[in-house]
Amino acid sequence: MPKSDVRAFDVPFEQLKKQREYAALARTVLESRYGGKAPLAYVHTFGCQGNVSDSERMKGWLAQMGYGFTDVIEEADFVLFNTCAVREHAHDRVFGNVGALKPIKQNKPDMIIALCGCMMQQEHVWQKIKKSYPFVNLVFGTHALHRIPELMYKVLCSGKRVFEVENCDGYIAEGIPVRRDGSFKGWLPIMYGCNNFCSYCIVPYVRGRERSRSSQAVIAEARELIASGCKDITLLGQNVNSYNRESGEMSFAQLLEEINNIDGDFRIRFMTSHPKDCTFELLDTMARCEKVSRHLHLPFQSGNNRVLKEMNRGYTREKYLSLVEYAKKVMPDISLTSDIIVGFPGETYEEFRDTVSLIEAVEFTSLFTFIYSPREGTKAASMPDPISREDKGKWFRELTLAQEKIAAKRSQKMVGQTYRVLCEECNGGLLSGRTDGSVMIDFPGDESYIGRFVDVKVTACRNWTLSGEIV
Ligand code: 5AD
Ligand code: SF4
Repeated sequence: MPKSDVRAFDVPFEQLKKQREYAALARTVLESRYGGKAPLAYVHTFGCQGNVSDSERMKGWLAQMGYGFTDVIEEADFVLFNTCAVREHAHDRVFGNVGALKPIKQNKPDMIIALCGCMMQQEHVWQKIKKSYPFVNLVFGTHALHRIPELMYKVLCSGKRVFEVENCDGYIAEGIPVRRDGSFKGWLPIMYGCNNFCSYCIVPYVRGRERSRSSQAVIAEARELIASGCKDITLLGQNVNSYNRESGEMSFAQLLEEINNIDGDFRIRFMTSHPKDCTFELLDTMARCEKVSRHLHLPFQSGNNRVLKEMNRGYTREKYLSLVEYAKKVMPDISLTSDIIVGFPGETYEEFRDTVSLIEAVEFTSLFTFIYSPREGTKAASMPDPISREDKGKWFRELTLAQEKIAAKRSQKMVGQTYRVLCEECNGGLLSGRTDGSVMIDFPGDESYIGRFVDVKVTACRNWTLSGEIV
């Protein structure tokens, strides 16, 4: 990017250069500490694809520092947990996993333990780690991910605990090395942070303000992915529809079009879209771009207008349904998925039934359904919440049952049809692949197909599992 275009949140080139120097210094320290043998890192990621993508970048730095990687925690010289704060369940799992490290570290006192990501941006969390988990060496929040070489170097040289939990609006760092988890599926972040402040959500507090990567950087990374054989690229952001809203540099629809125009046989997906910013123009672009999957993940959270207002979502049930209607009109084969929250504070059973009627009207392919989980510091956490957990559990099961019926009907309709599928896994002679609409199909085949597109005819549907054969 030309110097004049550097924005306030862009990490300056000199800062990145400094991090590369720290990585080289850390490498030298590690080489002498481990006698030239590569130390091993164990990296575990909790939460969403945004975290998975962040971990791929941190692993890129760790590889530059000379680390190899292991899936066996007891073997590791360095353990990194990239944490998630979005619901209580993820929060509890992180603390459970950290507690379990204590006896492991007792057997291996040189082990370095680090915690990073969303939970570490919350003061009550890092204070608790500081006080009650003395065996944790390093803690850093989402805004310091690009500084892992410097932080590791500090830990290695001082032997002291390091806490880097600056509360700020966030940065964008380009030029970070990436060590990707897979070769044919790639995560491609296009923006970070969120400005929406949905009343239940912790994300804007822990990931900072919305900021977009330059289209130049995104397109260059897309080209790299495609050149390296990637077949399925997912563009990532909390609200991809507002990509470049501030700068107006290039809209999300234009970005899709640009990536679609890159030569090669690949698919483009994106998540997450926000119904308040999703436009008919975007849906038209999706329809026009042959490499953009006919899959739209469009979380509606609740089907009731009063609840949507309390959630600060910025759209109505009617607006959501009009988007779905238009999407189906311009892409009759569109596959829709969504996120839903059951039991938002003050939601009544009748209001919850509006959510059920909405899923019946839309006929989603699949849903991610969550029981409301109060997050400290959000607006909803202080709203009266009279419905018991038990009742919310009943509503949750009612919703799941309704969706199972819809999914069974949709799956049944797929029998006899042929789909282009990207082969992802092979277990005992059975391949699993994903359709353009993100539906999994199992079919006989061998490992040589992994990472390739094949046409599969669906022959049977049993308990929501689709099976087929290559045609
Ligand atoms: N409680 C339950 N679910 C939540 N989500 C976000 N915050 C909460 C919360 N406090 C869900 C939303 C969002 C998805 C990523 O997580 O449905 O779309
Ligand atoms: Fe959270 Fe709403 Fe932002 Fe999504 S759009 S990350 S739900 S605040």
